[in-house]
Amino acid sequence: MVQRTLKYYYQKARKEGWALPQFNFSCAEQLQGIVQAAVRLKAPLLVGTSEGDSGFLGKAQAVALVGAHRKETKIPIYLNFDHGKSLESVKEAIEAGYDAVHFDGSSYSFKESVGITKRVVALARKRRISVVEGEFAEIPGKHSTFHKGKAPKLGKDSFTDPKEANEFVEKTGVDSLAVLIGTVHGMYAENPRLDIERLREIKKHATCFMVLHGGSGTPPRDLLRAVKTGVVKVNISTELRGAFINTLRATLKEMPNEITPYKILPKSVEAVQKVAEHHLQFLGSANKI
Ligand code: 13P
Repeated sequence: MVQRTLKYYYQKARKEGWALPQFNFSCAEQLQGIVQAAVRLKAPLLVGTSEGDSGFLGKAQAVALVGAHRKETKIPIYLNFDHGKSLESVKEAIEAGYDAVHFDGSSYSFKESVGITKRVVALARKRRISVVEGEFAEIPGKHSTFHKGKAPKLGKDSFTDPKEANEFVEKTGVDSLAVLIGTVHGMYAENPRLDIERLREIKKHATCFMVLHGGSGTPPRDLLRAVKTGVVKVNISTELRGAFINTLRATLKEMPNEITPYKILPKSVEAVQKVAEHHLQFLGSANKI
């Protein structure tokens, strides 16, 4: 069967008012739990690796693992390169066979970011990449951290400007844009509320797909309102990492003398599966293949 593209599912999600979670992973066992969740819920699946994740696992290895799961499960699984910070790293991901790429130009000036993103789009169009994601407004917070305090208070003037969003999309030709409307990377005692009005304004001005980062810990009601307003993808990393590692810690405590990975790790795989199932169901991707 010819696999549908990720763009097909973005279009379907936007039309029908649901979203795909993007689950990040850095080891085969995390991916195993994520894939099990999607198979059980008959959900199209988007997974991702950041530069850190794929620096550990290897880009070719991530592509091969996803390919093996796709072949075995026969469900649509897509691999996105998350937060590529340079043209070189995104180019490597494209050449390794990723299905989608995200160039994070937030550390460059707007003009520089437009220039590099345009080159990423040109490279991607020559290959089988169906979605190029852009970002120019930095999403704050530290990935993969459970913070004890409140999230940093974000000024609305740091949120994505709708007119700038339009200019960015027109000039670069990106398919999707990571918008800053209040989400932060990582989990806090209290994650911030989202500015849905700003999201509506961005939607009015920019024609691309809108995606959110920092999905872990985001107030659920706000997340659903964002999806109903048109967000088609929500990135989740911290919650999955927490489920995997905290379960591993507990298992090691329970079995202090055990050294066999396949006896220690299944509980962590199961914990990841549970978290992934929750998000697939909550965002509405279940039964959408
Ligand atoms: P969280 O770690 O807050 O889930 O954010 C993940 C993310 O946005 C990856 O790009």
